[in-house]
Amino acid sequence: MTEHDFRPNIYDTTLEKGSVTWESPSNIALVKYWGKKKDQIPENPSISFTLNHCKTITTLEFTKKGDHNHFEFEVYLDGEKKDDFKPKIQTFFERIEVYLPFLKQYQFIIKTENTFPHSSGIASSASGMSALALCLMSVEKQLIKSDVIVGAVEDGINEVYFNQKASFLARLGSGSACRSIEGDLIVWGKTKSIEGSTDLFGIKYPYKVHENFKGFQDTILLVDKGEKQVSSTVGHNLMHNHPYAQNRFEQAHQNIENLKDILELGDLKAFNALVESEALTLHAMMLTSMPYFILMKPNTLEIINKIWEFREKTGLHISFTLDAGANVHVLYPKRESQEILQFIESELVDFCQNGHYICDQIGFGAELINIE
Ligand code: PMV
Repeated sequence: MTEHDFRPNIYDTTLEKGSVTWESPSNIALVKYWGKKKDQIPENPSISFTLNHCKTITTLEFTKKGDHNHFEFEVYLDGEKKDDFKPKIQTFFERIEVYLPFLKQYQFIIKTENTFPHSSGIASSASGMSALALCLMSVEKQLIKSDVIVGAVEDGINEVYFNQKASFLARLGSGSACRSIEGDLIVWGKTKSIEGSTDLFGIKYPYKVHENFKGFQDTILLVDKGEKQVSSTVGHNLMHNHPYAQNRFEQAHQNIENLKDILELGDLKAFNALVESEALTLHAMMLTSMPYFILMKPNTLEIINKIWEFREKTGLHISFTLDAGANVHVLYPKRESQEILQFIESELVDFCQNGHYICDQIGFGAELINIE
Protein backbone atom coordinates (compact mmCIF):
# COMPACT_ATOMS: atom_id res chain seq x y z
CA MET A 1 0.00 0.00 0.00
CA THR A 2 1.08 3.60 -0.59
CA GLU A 3 -0.48 6.93 0.42
CA HIS A 4 -2.06 7.01 -3.01
CA ASP A 5 -4.24 3.98 -2.27
CA PHE A 6 -6.10 6.05 0.33
CA ARG A 7 -7.26 8.68 -2.15
CA PRO A 8 -10.81 7.82 -3.20
CA ASN A 9 -11.41 8.02 -6.93
CA ILE A 10 -15.16 8.50 -6.80
CA TYR A 11 -18.05 9.50 -4.54
CA ASP A 12 -21.17 8.24 -6.27
CA THR A 13 -23.84 8.72 -3.62
CA THR A 14 -25.29 11.91 -2.18
CA LEU A 15 -25.79 12.33 1.53
CA GLU A 16 -27.54 15.40 2.98
CA LYS A 17 -26.96 14.84 6.65
CA GLY A 18 -26.43 12.25 9.31
CA SER A 19 -24.73 11.34 12.52
CA VAL A 20 -22.27 8.65 13.55
CA THR A 21 -20.80 7.62 16.91
CA TRP A 22 -17.64 5.64 17.56
CA GLU A 23 -15.98 4.60 20.77
CA SER A 24 -12.19 4.23 20.52
CA PRO A 25 -9.64 3.20 23.13
CA SER A 26 -6.28 4.47 24.26
CA ASN A 27 -3.20 2.26 23.93
CA ILE A 28 0.05 1.75 25.80
CA ALA A 29 3.29 1.16 23.90
CA LEU A 30 5.63 -1.65 24.93
CA VAL A 31 8.28 -0.59 22.41
CA LYS A 32 8.00 3.18 22.16
CA TYR A 33 7.57 5.55 19.26
CA TRP A 34 9.77 8.60 19.87
CA GLY A 35 10.99 10.59 16.91
CA LYS A 36 9.25 11.26 13.62
CA LYS A 37 9.84 12.40 10.06
CA LYS A 38 7.58 14.56 7.87
CA ASP A 39 3.87 13.61 7.73
CA GLN A 40 3.96 11.67 11.00
CA ILE A 41 6.19 8.93 9.65
CA PRO A 42 7.84 7.28 12.66
CA GLU A 43 11.61 7.08 12.95
CA ASN A 44 11.27 3.63 14.49
CA PRO A 45 8.69 0.86 14.80
CA SER A 46 6.53 0.55 17.92
CA ILE A 47 4.18 -2.05 19.38
CA SER A 48 1.34 -1.49 21.84
CA PHE A 49 -1.39 -3.12 23.87
CA THR A 50 -4.78 -1.65 23.04
CA LEU A 51 -6.60 -0.72 26.26
CA ASN A 52 -10.15 -1.60 27.17
CA HIS A 53 -11.63 0.98 29.56
CA CYS A 54 -9.81 4.23 28.73
CA LYS A 55 -11.83 5.37 25.74
CA THR A 56 -13.12 8.38 23.85
CA ILE A 57 -16.70 8.39 22.61
CA THR A 58 -17.23 10.74 19.67
CA THR A 59 -20.38 11.65 17.78
CA LEU A 60 -19.96 13.40 14.46
CA GLU A 61 -23.03 15.20 13.11
CA PHE A 62 -22.77 16.36 9.52
CA THR A 63 -24.92 18.53 7.25
CA LYS A 64 -24.23 19.39 3.62
CA LYS A 65 -23.36 23.08 3.17
CA GLY A 66 -23.48 25.50 0.22
CA ASP A 67 -19.93 26.70 -0.25
CA HIS A 68 -16.99 24.33 -0.43
CA ASN A 69 -14.25 26.83 0.36
CA HIS A 70 -13.41 26.18 3.96
CA PHE A 71 -13.75 23.70 6.83
CA GLU A 72 -16.67 24.37 9.14
CA PHE A 73 -16.90 22.61 12.49
CA GLU A 74 -17.64 23.05 16.18
CA VAL A 75 -16.20 20.91 18.97
CA TYR A 76 -17.80 20.01 22.30
CA LEU A 77 -16.20 18.14 25.22
CA ASP A 78 -18.70 16.81 27.77
CA GLY A 79 -21.35 19.12 26.29
CA GLU A 80 -19.18 22.23 26.59
CA LYS A 81 -17.99 24.14 23.54
CA LYS A 82 -14.20 23.85 23.22
CA ASP A 83 -12.75 26.45 20.87
CA ASP A 84 -9.24 25.66 22.11
CA PHE A 85 -9.52 22.18 20.47
CA LYS A 86 -10.19 23.76 17.07
CA PRO A 87 -6.63 24.53 15.87
CA LYS A 88 -5.57 20.89 16.29
CA ILE A 89 -8.63 19.67 14.37
CA GLN A 90 -8.18 22.36 11.71
CA THR A 91 -4.58 21.09 11.16
CA PHE A 92 -5.86 17.51 11.11
CA PHE A 93 -8.48 18.38 8.46
CA GLU A 94 -5.87 20.19 6.35
CA ARG A 95 -3.59 17.16 6.45
CA ILE A 96 -6.28 14.64 5.56
CA GLU A 97 -8.32 16.61 3.02
CA VAL A 98 -6.59 14.97 0.03
CA TYR A 99 -7.72 11.61 1.37
CA LEU A 100 -11.25 12.76 2.32
CA PRO A 101 -12.24 15.29 -0.34
CA PHE A 102 -15.76 15.64 1.10
CA LEU A 103 -14.51 17.51 4.19
CA LYS A 104 -15.24 21.03 2.90
CA GLN A 105 -18.69 20.01 1.66
CA TYR A 106 -20.13 19.48 5.14
CA GLN A 107 -20.62 21.37 8.33
CA PHE A 108 -19.60 19.19 11.29
CA ILE A 109 -20.46 19.12 14.96
CA ILE A 110 -18.02 16.98 16.92
CA LYS A 111 -19.26 15.91 20.35
CA THR A 112 -16.74 14.05 22.41
CA GLU A 113 -16.31 12.61 25.90
CA ASN A 114 -13.72 10.43 27.61
CA THR A 115 -14.25 7.60 30.07
CA PHE A 116 -11.22 8.89 31.97
CA PRO A 117 -10.96 12.38 33.49
CA HIS A 118 -9.67 14.97 31.02
CA SER A 119 -7.15 16.29 33.52
CA SER A 120 -5.74 12.89 34.45
CA GLY A 121 -2.45 13.30 32.63
CA ILE A 122 -3.62 10.45 30.35
CA ALA A 123 -3.21 11.57 26.79
CA SER A 124 -6.58 11.59 25.06
CA SER A 125 -5.02 12.23 21.65
CA ALA A 126 -4.74 8.52 20.69
CA SER A 127 -8.35 7.68 21.59
CA GLY A 128 -9.68 11.09 20.47
CA MET A 129 -8.02 11.20 17.06
CA SER A 130 -8.81 7.56 16.32
CA ALA A 131 -12.49 8.06 17.24
CA LEU A 132 -12.72 11.08 14.94
CA ALA A 133 -10.93 9.27 12.10
CA LEU A 134 -13.40 6.38 12.42
CA CYS A 135 -16.40 8.72 12.34
CA LEU A 136 -15.04 10.34 9.17
CA MET A 137 -14.52 6.92 7.61
CA SER A 138 -18.15 6.04 8.34
CA VAL A 139 -19.18 9.17 6.42
CA GLU A 140 -16.92 8.27 3.50
CA LYS A 141 -18.24 4.72 3.43
CA GLN A 142 -21.77 6.05 2.92
CA LEU A 143 -20.60 8.19 -0.01
CA ILE A 144 -19.34 5.20 -1.97
CA LYS A 145 -21.51 2.41 -3.40
CA SER A 146 -20.21 -1.05 -2.65
CA ASP A 147 -19.43 -2.10 -6.23
CA VAL A 148 -16.92 0.60 -7.20
CA ILE A 149 -13.15 0.44 -6.97
CA VAL A 150 -11.78 2.42 -4.04
CA GLY A 151 -8.05 3.01 -3.88
CA ALA A 152 -6.53 -0.44 -4.19
CA VAL A 153 -9.73 -2.25 -3.25
CA GLU A 154 -12.17 -3.65 -5.76
CA ASP A 155 -15.36 -4.05 -3.75
CA GLY A 156 -15.91 -0.59 -2.29
CA ILE A 157 -14.89 -0.02 1.30
CA ASN A 158 -14.46 -3.44 2.90
CA GLU A 159 -13.55 -3.92 6.56
CA VAL A 160 -9.82 -4.29 5.96
CA TYR A 161 -9.62 -1.11 3.90
CA PHE A 162 -11.85 0.74 6.38
CA ASN A 163 -9.60 -0.09 9.33
CA GLN A 164 -6.39 0.56 7.44
CA LYS A 165 -7.55 3.93 6.23
CA ALA A 166 -8.96 4.87 9.66
CA SER A 167 -5.56 4.04 11.16
CA PHE A 168 -3.79 5.93 8.35
CA LEU A 169 -5.93 9.04 9.00
CA ALA A 170 -5.62 8.76 12.79
CA ARG A 171 -1.83 8.69 12.36
CA LEU A 172 -2.01 12.07 10.66
CA GLY A 173 -3.85 13.43 13.73
CA SER A 174 -1.54 11.95 16.35
CA GLY A 175 1.04 9.26 15.56
CA SER A 176 0.18 6.79 18.31
CA ALA A 177 -3.56 7.12 17.49
CA CYS A 178 -3.02 4.77 14.53
CA ARG A 179 -2.53 1.95 17.06
CA SER A 180 -6.00 2.42 18.61
CA ILE A 181 -8.32 1.18 15.85
CA GLU A 182 -7.91 -2.54 16.51
CA GLY A 183 -6.48 -4.81 19.17
CA ASP A 184 -5.08 -6.50 21.04
CA LEU A 185 -1.46 -6.00 20.01
CA ILE A 186 -0.66 -3.51 17.26
CA VAL A 187 2.55 -2.84 15.37
CA TRP A 188 3.20 0.47 13.63
CA GLY A 189 6.32 1.18 11.60
CA LYS A 190 8.14 -0.88 9.03
CA THR A 191 10.47 -3.47 10.52
CA LYS A 192 11.84 -6.60 8.90
CA SER A 193 10.86 -9.01 11.67
CA ILE A 194 7.12 -8.26 11.33
CA GLU A 195 5.59 -9.21 8.02
CA GLY A 196 3.21 -6.59 6.62
CA SER A 197 4.42 -3.84 8.96
CA THR A 198 4.29 -0.35 7.49
CA ASP A 199 4.96 3.26 8.47
CA LEU A 200 1.55 4.25 7.11
CA PHE A 201 -0.82 2.53 9.57
CA GLY A 202 -0.98 0.09 12.45
CA ILE A 203 -1.40 -3.63 11.80
CA LYS A 204 -2.53 -6.43 14.10
CA TYR A 205 0.45 -8.32 15.49
CA PRO A 206 0.48 -11.34 13.16
CA TYR A 207 2.25 -14.03 15.23
CA LYS A 208 1.47 -16.40 18.06
CA VAL A 209 0.91 -14.92 21.52
CA HIS A 210 1.16 -17.09 24.64
CA GLU A 211 -1.77 -17.50 27.07
CA ASN A 212 0.24 -15.54 29.68
CA PHE A 213 -0.58 -12.34 27.84
CA LYS A 214 -4.33 -12.93 27.48
CA GLY A 215 -6.25 -10.40 29.56
CA PHE A 216 -3.01 -8.68 30.59
CA GLN A 217 -3.65 -5.97 33.19
CA ASP A 218 -2.63 -2.30 33.14
CA THR A 219 -3.30 -0.33 36.31
CA ILE A 220 -2.56 3.33 35.61
CA LEU A 221 -1.28 5.24 38.64
CA LEU A 222 -2.08 8.93 38.26
CA VAL A 223 0.99 10.54 39.76
CA ASP A 224 0.53 13.93 38.18
CA LYS A 225 -2.69 15.05 36.58
CA GLY A 226 -1.36 18.39 35.34
CA GLU A 227 -0.67 19.38 31.76
CA LYS A 228 2.70 18.14 30.52
CA GLN A 229 5.41 20.84 30.51
CA VAL A 230 6.73 19.52 27.20
CA SER A 231 4.34 18.30 24.50
CA SER A 232 5.09 15.07 22.66
CA THR A 233 5.39 17.07 19.40
CA VAL A 234 8.29 19.03 20.90
CA GLY A 235 9.77 15.80 22.31
CA HIS A 236 9.64 14.01 18.93
CA ASN A 237 11.35 16.96 17.27
CA LEU A 238 14.17 16.92 19.81
CA MET A 239 15.18 13.52 18.37
CA HIS A 240 16.48 15.39 15.30
CA ASN A 241 20.21 15.85 15.88
CA HIS A 242 19.96 13.96 19.15
CA PRO A 243 23.36 12.34 19.89
CA TYR A 244 21.84 8.91 20.66
CA ALA A 245 19.00 8.91 18.14
CA GLN A 246 20.39 6.46 15.58
CA ASN A 247 21.27 3.86 18.22
CA ARG A 248 17.86 4.28 19.79
CA PHE A 249 16.04 3.75 16.48
CA GLU A 250 18.06 0.58 15.80
CA GLN A 251 17.40 -0.67 19.32
CA ALA A 252 13.63 -0.37 18.77
CA HIS A 253 13.86 -2.69 15.71
CA GLN A 254 15.91 -5.14 17.78
CA ASN A 255 13.51 -4.99 20.73
CA ILE A 256 10.54 -5.77 18.49
CA GLU A 257 12.41 -8.75 17.10
CA ASN A 258 13.26 -9.92 20.64
CA LEU A 259 9.67 -9.42 21.75
CA LYS A 260 8.48 -11.95 19.15
CA ASP A 261 10.07 -14.88 21.02
CA ILE A 262 9.00 -13.48 24.38
CA LEU A 263 5.38 -13.24 23.25
CA GLU A 264 5.41 -16.71 21.73
CA LEU A 265 7.05 -18.41 24.70
CA GLY A 266 5.20 -16.42 27.36
CA ASP A 267 8.52 -15.43 28.95
CA LEU A 268 7.26 -12.93 31.52
CA LYS A 269 10.66 -12.26 33.06
CA ALA A 270 12.17 -11.27 29.72
CA PHE A 271 8.99 -9.29 28.94
CA ASN A 272 9.39 -7.24 32.12
CA ALA A 273 13.05 -6.48 31.39
CA LEU A 274 12.34 -5.41 27.82
CA VAL A 275 9.33 -3.26 28.66
CA GLU A 276 10.97 -1.48 31.60
CA SER A 277 14.12 -0.85 29.60
CA GLU A 278 11.98 0.67 26.82
CA ALA A 279 10.21 2.99 29.28
CA LEU A 280 13.47 4.16 30.83
CA THR A 281 15.10 4.58 27.42
CA LEU A 282 12.22 6.83 26.33
CA HIS A 283 12.84 9.04 29.35
CA ALA A 284 16.61 8.80 28.86
CA MET A 285 16.09 10.33 25.41
CA MET A 286 14.33 13.25 27.08
CA LEU A 287 17.09 13.62 29.69
CA THR A 288 19.76 13.72 26.99
CA SER A 289 18.10 15.97 24.39
CA MET A 290 19.00 19.64 24.02
CA PRO A 291 17.12 21.29 25.61
CA TYR A 292 16.77 18.46 28.14
CA PHE A 293 13.72 17.88 30.30
CA ILE A 294 12.37 15.56 32.99
CA LEU A 295 8.78 14.34 32.95
CA MET A 296 9.10 11.86 35.81
CA LYS A 297 8.21 13.13 39.31
CA PRO A 298 9.66 12.00 42.64
CA ASN A 299 6.62 9.75 43.13
CA THR A 300 7.24 8.09 39.75
CA LEU A 301 10.61 6.90 41.10
CA GLU A 302 9.13 5.92 44.49
CA ILE A 303 6.65 3.69 42.67
CA ILE A 304 9.29 2.13 40.41
CA ASN A 305 11.45 1.26 43.42
CA LYS A 306 8.49 -0.22 45.30
CA ILE A 307 7.62 -2.36 42.27
CA TRP A 308 11.19 -3.67 42.06
CA GLU A 309 11.30 -4.48 45.81
CA PHE A 310 7.93 -6.26 45.65
CA ARG A 311 8.95 -8.25 42.58
CA GLU A 312 12.21 -9.33 44.23
CA LYS A 313 10.38 -10.37 47.39
CA THR A 314 7.43 -12.20 45.86
CA GLY A 315 8.66 -13.45 42.48
CA LEU A 316 5.41 -12.14 40.94
CA HIS A 317 5.49 -10.86 37.35
CA ILE A 318 4.81 -7.19 37.87
CA SER A 319 6.48 -4.49 35.77
CA PHE A 320 5.97 -0.87 34.78
CA THR A 321 5.96 1.25 31.70
CA LEU A 322 5.72 5.01 31.24
CA ASP A 323 4.46 7.23 28.48
CA ALA A 324 5.53 10.83 27.98
CA GLY A 325 4.53 11.89 31.49
CA ALA A 326 4.83 11.10 35.19
CA ASN A 327 2.07 8.48 35.43
CA VAL A 328 3.04 4.84 35.86
CA HIS A 329 1.38 1.97 33.98
CA VAL A 330 1.67 -1.15 36.15
CA LEU A 331 1.57 -4.28 33.97
CA TYR A 332 0.87 -7.84 35.16
CA PRO A 333 -0.76 -11.10 34.08
CA LYS A 334 -4.41 -11.63 34.91
CA ARG A 335 -3.79 -14.69 37.07
CA GLU A 336 -1.66 -12.61 39.50
CA SER A 337 -4.25 -9.81 39.74
CA GLN A 338 -5.39 -10.45 43.26
CA GLU A 339 -2.02 -10.22 45.04
CA ILE A 340 -0.78 -7.40 42.82
CA LEU A 341 -3.91 -5.27 43.19
CA GLN A 342 -3.67 -5.68 46.94
CA PHE A 343 -0.06 -4.47 46.79
CA ILE A 344 -1.05 -1.51 44.59
CA GLU A 345 -3.80 -0.51 46.99
CA SER A 346 -1.72 -0.84 50.12
CA GLU A 347 1.66 0.44 48.91
CA LEU A 348 1.40 2.45 45.71
CA VAL A 349 -1.83 4.42 45.84
CA ASP A 350 -0.35 6.82 48.42
CA PHE A 351 1.99 8.11 45.70
CA CYS A 352 -0.91 8.96 43.36
CA GLN A 353 -2.41 12.43 43.19
CA ASN A 354 -5.54 12.31 45.40
CA GLY A 355 -5.07 8.52 45.51
CA HIS A 356 -6.40 8.20 41.95
CA TYR A 357 -5.70 5.23 39.69
CA ILE A 358 -7.46 3.47 36.81
CA CYS A 359 -7.75 -0.30 36.37
CA ASP A 360 -7.53 -1.23 32.74
CA GLN A 361 -6.59 -4.25 30.69
CA ILE A 362 -5.80 -5.31 27.16
CA GLY A 363 -8.67 -4.63 24.74
CA PHE A 364 -9.77 -5.34 21.20
CA GLY A 365 -10.21 -1.98 19.54
CA ALA A 366 -12.83 0.55 18.56
CA GLU A 367 -16.57 -0.03 18.23
CA LEU A 368 -19.27 1.57 16.13
CA ILE A 369 -21.97 2.71 18.57
CA ASN A 370 -24.52 4.37 16.32
CA ILE A 371 -25.10 5.50 12.76
CA GLU A 372 -28.14 7.34 11.42
O1 PMV B 1 1.26 10.09 19.43
P1 PMV B 1 2.14 11.08 20.07
O2 PMV B 1 2.75 12.03 19.08
O3 PMV B 1 1.48 11.79 21.22
O4 PMV B 1 3.42 10.30 20.70
C1 PMV B 1 3.30 9.40 21.75
C2 PMV B 1 4.60 8.88 22.16
C3 PMV B 1 4.65 7.96 23.38
O5 PMV B 1 3.40 7.87 24.01
C4 PMV B 1 5.63 8.52 24.37
C5 PMV B 1 5.13 6.57 22.98
C6 PMV B 1 4.18 5.73 22.20
O6 PMV B 1 4.67 4.95 21.37
O7 PMV B 1 2.95 5.80 22.43
